Amino acid sequence: KPQLLSVSQFSRESVETLFRLADVMQPIARRQKVTRVLEGAVLGNLFFEASTRTRVSFATAFCRLGGSVCDTTGFTFSSMAKGESIYDTSRVMSGYVDALVVRHPEQGAVAEFARATNIPVVNGGDGPGEHPSQALLDLYTIQREFSRLGKVVDGAHIALVGDLKYGRTVHSLSKLLALYRGIKFTLIAPASLEMPSYIVEQMAKNGNIVEQTSVLQEGLKGADVVYATRIQKERFVDEVFEGYTPDFQINLALINNVCDQHTLIMHPLPRDSQPGANDLSTDLNHDSRLAIFRQTDNGIPIRMAIFASLLGVDQQVAHTMRDATW
Ligand code: CP
Repeated sequence: KPQLLSVSQFSRESVETLFRLADVMQPIARRQKVTRVLEGAVLGNLFFEASTRTRVSFATAFCRLGGSVCDTTGFTFSSMAKGESIYDTSRVMSGYVDALVVRHPEQGAVAEFARATNIPVVNGGDGPGEHPSQALLDLYTIQREFSRLGKVVDGAHIALVGDLKYGRTVHSLSKLLALYRGIKFTLIAPASLEMPSYIVEQMAKNGNIVEQTSVLQEGLKGADVVYATRIQKERFVDEVFEGYTPDFQINLALINNVCDQHTLIMHPLPRDSQPGANDLSTDLNHDSRLAIFRQTDNGIPIRMAIFASLLGVDQQVAHTMRDATW
């Protein structure tokens, strides 16, 4: 079935194929070219959890390919509020739309949607599980930035910082990066928020090294990429969060002190801007090493490439592009 539920579906070759297709999509994403390959197709965008980037960029990507979008946000605006099951919801939606993007607070729920239908289903984030499209756009960003700097992903030093336990973006990104060779991963988290051991095991292949520390300054040294994450406060149900101190904040003074002029600073966003949140500091906003808005921009061509692949129009895009007239 054409679906995107996990990065585990990808080989290195299929990742590179998708990235070449995303390159084709770039002029459309930048509004220089237009295509109508998905004219008449409708996307169901079902978000049962808050989202700005994923929801809007999937919708925009579908529209830029010529399709249109039906959006449902939150349980209260869906008949699941009246007790309808995932199975019934998915079966009903598959009679209305041509593809589904689903975000859900429970790990595995998007796969349940996919099992109930034959239309393409894309995981827009399932609880603490996976966020495959985010990982793909992150890796695409790393490759493009590295290309500019004369670097390659093989052999890179990637430091992942923050909530590695609940952060689905780092779960997917780590597994995707593990397709490459000779990566040095440094996992920087307090003991209460360490990366699940089953993911660490998957990362330690292809000659990759995985080191774990709770000392931020030590872990960042020599990193080609610093990937920071927000504390997923919404996932703490019975647990009391402990151990995440201001020392874990990524800020300009720290980066200037321990990183070099080409270190990429990344974050899937949103960053928590509330007082005391200790998330990625805004004092890096004007530093060229900060790649966060280049990441968000790359979300459109990557999500266009995902739709074009899943709906079987990937070969048509290059031949149907014409100049934008506005
Ligand atoms: N990165 C990400 O998933 O952002 P949203 O929650 O805004 O979709």
